[in-house]
Amino acid sequence: MDAIAVYITFLLFMSLPSENTRARAETQPPLPKKIVPGTSLSPISAHSSSWLSHSGLFAFGFYPQGNGFVVAIWLVCKKNNTIVWTANRDDPPVTSTAKLQFTMNGRLILKDQKGQEKLVVKVNARASSGSMLDSGNFVLYGNDNSSIIWQSFDYPTDTLLGNQSLPCGGQLSSSISETNRSTGRFQLNMQNDGNLVLYPAYISATSWDAYWASDTSAGNEVKYHLYLNKTGSLQILNSSSVFISSPIATLIDALEDNDTGGNQTIYRATLDSDGVFRLYAHYVNNGSDKVIKSFPETNTCEVKGFCGFNSYCTFNDDKLLCSCLPGYKLLDEKNQDTSLGCKRNYSKAECKDEKDGEAFYNMVPMNNIVWDDHPYFQNEDTSSEEQCSLACLVDCNCWAALYEKGSCKKQGLPLRYAKRTHEGDDSTKAFFKVGKNSWKGYENPFPIPIKTTSNKAVVHIIVVTSVFSIILCSAIVISSHYMYKIRVLKYKRLTETWSLGGLNEDVALRRFTYNELRRATNQFKEELGKGSFGAVYKGSLNKGKTKRFIAVKRLEKLVEEGEREFQAEVRAIGKTHHRNLVRLLGFCAEGSKRLLVYEYMSNGSLGKLLFGDQRRPNWDERIRIALDIARGILYLHEECEAPIIHCDIKPQNILMDEFWTAKISDFGLAKLLMPDQTRTFTVIRGTRGYMAPEWNKNTPISLKADVYSYGIVLLETLCCRRNLDVNVLEPEEILLSGWAYKCFVAREVNKLVPSEVIDENVMENMVKVALWCIQDEPLLRPTMKGVVLMLEGITDIAIPPCPDSNRA
Ligand SMILES: *[C@@H]1O[C@H](CO)[C@@H](O)[C@H](O)[C@H]1NC(C)=O
Ligand SMILES: *[C@@H]1O[C@H](CO)[C@@H](O)[C@H](O)[C@H]1NC(C)=O
Ligand SMILES: *[C@@H]1O[C@H](CO)[C@@H](O)[C@H](O)[C@H]1NC(C)=O
Ligand SMILES: *[C@@H]1O[C@H](CO)[C@@H](O)[C@H](O)[C@H]1NC(C)=O
Ligand SMILES: *[C@@H]1O[C@H](CO)[C@@H](O)[C@H](O)[C@H]1NC(C)=O
Ligand SMILES: *[C@@H]1O[C@H](CO)[C@@H](O)[C@H](O)[C@H]1NC(C)=O
Ligand SMILES: *[C@@H]1O[C@H](CO)[C@@H](O)[C@H](O)[C@H]1NC(C)=O
Ligand SMILES: *[C@@H]1O[C@H](CO)[C@@H](O)[C@H](O)[C@H]1NC(C)=O
Ligand SMILES: *[C@@H]1O[C@H](CO)[C@@H](O)[C@H](O)[C@H]1NC(C)=O
Ligand SMILES: *[C@@H]1O[C@H](CO)[C@@H](O)[C@H](O)[C@H]1NC(C)=O
Repeated sequence: MDAIAVYITFLLFMSLPSENTRARAETQPPLPKKIVPGTSLSPISAHSSSWLSHSGLFAFGFYPQGNGFVVAIWLVCKKNNTIVWTANRDDPPVTSTAKLQFTMNGRLILKDQKGQEKLVVKVNARASSGSMLDSGNFVLYGNDNSSIIWQSFDYPTDTLLGNQSLPCGGQLSSSISETNRSTGRFQLNMQNDGNLVLYPAYISATSWDAYWASDTSAGNEVKYHLYLNKTGSLQILNSSSVFISSPIATLIDALEDNDTGGNQTIYRATLDSDGVFRLYAHYVNNGSDKVIKSFPETNTCEVKGFCGFNSYCTFNDDKLLCSCLPGYKLLDEKNQDTSLGCKRNYSKAECKDEKDGEAFYNMVPMNNIVWDDHPYFQNEDTSSEEQCSLACLVDCNCWAALYEKGSCKKQGLPLRYAKRTHEGDDSTKAFFKVGKNSWKGYENPFPIPIKTTSNKAVVHIIVVTSVFSIILCSAIVISSHYMYKIRVLKYKRLTETWSLGGLNEDVALRRFTYNELRRATNQFKEELGKGSFGAVYKGSLNKGKTKRFIAVKRLEKLVEEGEREFQAEVRAIGKTHHRNLVRLLGFCAEGSKRLLVYEYMSNGSLGKLLFGDQRRPNWDERIRIALDIARGILYLHEECEAPIIHCDIKPQNILMDEFWTAKISDFGLAKLLMPDQTRTFTVIRGTRGYMAPEWNKNTPISLKADVYSYGIVLLETLCCRRNLDVNVLEPEEILLSGWAYKCFVAREVNKLVPSEVIDENVMENMVKVALWCIQDEPLLRPTMKGVVLMLEGITDIAIPPCPDSNRA
């Protein structure tokens, strides 16, 4: 083996450009250098850790990152190399024993230190050769050695180079930092409406979150794309072929900026890790570079999301600083990482009505602070600062208020986009709700029913789960790849939308007529399945020339539920807007007919995916799905206006969209929990096997019922089997929840997923979370926020007690 490696290294060494070949390149038109099957690269070999372009300006291969290496393309520079593209950017770096191989069967694979292979370039066809071009484009050629079957220019990460386009609907994602090229916190989207827009990479970013736009919006389906030409002109063009179209807008022309590098200059446009999109020029002759233009032009706290949740941005001496708002402390106190944001410096008290607000909290005023976020409530008729402050104090949903010339804006958590204005600007006054110190001990008002040695662990978990913190940007970042593609900066109110009283226009639901829906579903021909309260049918709506698929649910047993409840539920669910919830698009209420219109999920349910006989999701996919579901439930519980208990979380109610993102559906049983309510339901809701034990005990149902169901779903997702399965080898394996606890105690969690290579530590943590969720005692179960923090590895997970110790 070694001999072969040495031989290959030798061959590669021989084929490296010597000074001679470089000199020749200047006189002859450069031919792309071919990389042929059978060659490979390794990070430590000085001569074959990369494949160079003809001129030696660009290289493809192993680039050091952290303690390891990533596969990347970089601009080779005398002073500093600049990465312009990264393969599988969210994978951990590999060690020096890894190998990149262009195999004899025409695939480019990365073999890591453990011998696991991964495709570097995802293409079905077999490549006969490859080449690192002088433009910075790495290409693979098909059978005829000339047709391109894959090119890095089609898969930009955070950078565009000269002669590269960002197509309509495409996006650039920033990196975490200069030295960590994983997907970061910002996105540049070339929207379908023709607008080029910068957003923080939140899952559910809307027009409110945008912080810069090219303002080239021209209605839907205009198909503009972004193009950087070789001489540094950054343009928005209107045809897929860059050569025949004229620019709609030229964002910057390097020549206007007196940049005279000629063809010895390489331009690149990069969405940097600080959220600013910059055009750079690199001068090949002297190795220097400079910024030609930035978007937004001045970064004086313009970039939304630069500071994490519940913190504010200050612009000082050309530097941006983030600090926590009053009443909050850094989430990552250990590393003092301000980009993660801040959490409340005391636990959340159970504020139920006006009096509680005054008992638990004070309002802390602050000058020179504003924020550019969407308030959930705005009163234009407020007489004084004091009135505004008081209005927030007595409102359990309000955490900050902004008073400005008679207008009072109330804000819920998390607080976003706060920034300092210049000193002496008295036109606004901000108020923040902070806990009274005397209520410091409020976090645990209930006696804890434990008698065993796990006492400390339980206290720990309760503390962890009652922390009223925030979802982390970093977590969002991981899944930002699967973000909604279509966002419109400027919402146009459609004439046919019927806004439910008082709703903001961007959550307006469309009211359909019954005939419209009958036509859309072709007389309710194709039944997709039966949900609670009715069957669901597939349909399609024509919108201009494009067709949009929908799922229409015809409610049957609605009479008892009553009209008001239907209205209330439609209103509440219509307001939910989260990446992991199936979106309600509209409804029909005509006579006694009640129909709900949802977005259509093309990949069926999680139940089908896990238990069906098609391809099963792999380990990584399952972890992602588990997190998706948890985030969806967390949103229902804590992030929408009134908490919603779903009551029927099960794999059949989790649907997969075209990008395999899990979304929670079927709110037919869901119940709104008003802040003043603890509910005792008269009718049992939910599905056997997923139902929390308290359903059978006539005790009040709380959000913790969903946590229980989630625990079961989590186990099923991890193990790809039903909780109750009689087709197993040993009787003790029949009930997954019991068996999982046994395996956990015996430290043999890998037994739960036989014949799969998984990270045992991850599996053990996941099982621990699930075991906490399925505790009989609702108080012991974590909140969904706690679950998400644990799944993301942000908080430690204590050893769970036996889930059904009371019953045993
Ligand atoms: C890059 O950041 C991600 C997310 O914070 C982290 O998981 C990863 O380990 C980092 N990589 C390096 C090389 O530091
Ligand atoms: C090279 O990059 C590093 C890290 O980004 C920076 O600290 C250093 O100043 C750069 N050197 C030059 C010569 O630009
Ligand atoms: C493609 O190019 C490679 C390297 O130049 C060569 O070995 C191979 O025979 C060529 N294949 C065809 C079909 O021309
Ligand atoms: C620019 O890219 C197009 C394909 O996208 C290619 O045909 C053309 O040769 C490139 N031009 C230059 C100067 O590299
Ligand atoms: C790039 O665009 C500018 C402005 O349209 C134009 O003047 C210049 O000739 C273009 N450069 C190339 C190489 O096409
Ligand atoms: C592109 O825009 C230009 C100027 O607005 C217009 O003249 C041209 O017809 C458009 N081309 C296409 C293909 O839409
Ligand atoms: C470019 O050069 C011209 C004349 O040489 C000068 O008037 C102009 O201000 C310069 N523009 C910039 C952006 O430096
Ligand atoms: C490098 O060269 C470019 C043009 O070739 C010039 O504009 C720039 O000022 C030079 N930079 C340095 C640091 O010499
Ligand atoms: C730019 O390229 C042309 C031919 O492609 C060459 O004639 C010219 O000398 C080059 N200019 C510089 C400054 O290198
Ligand atoms: C929380 O912060 C507020 C304001 O910053 C402060 O007054 C209060 O003492 C802090 N509470 C705790 C428990 O640290």
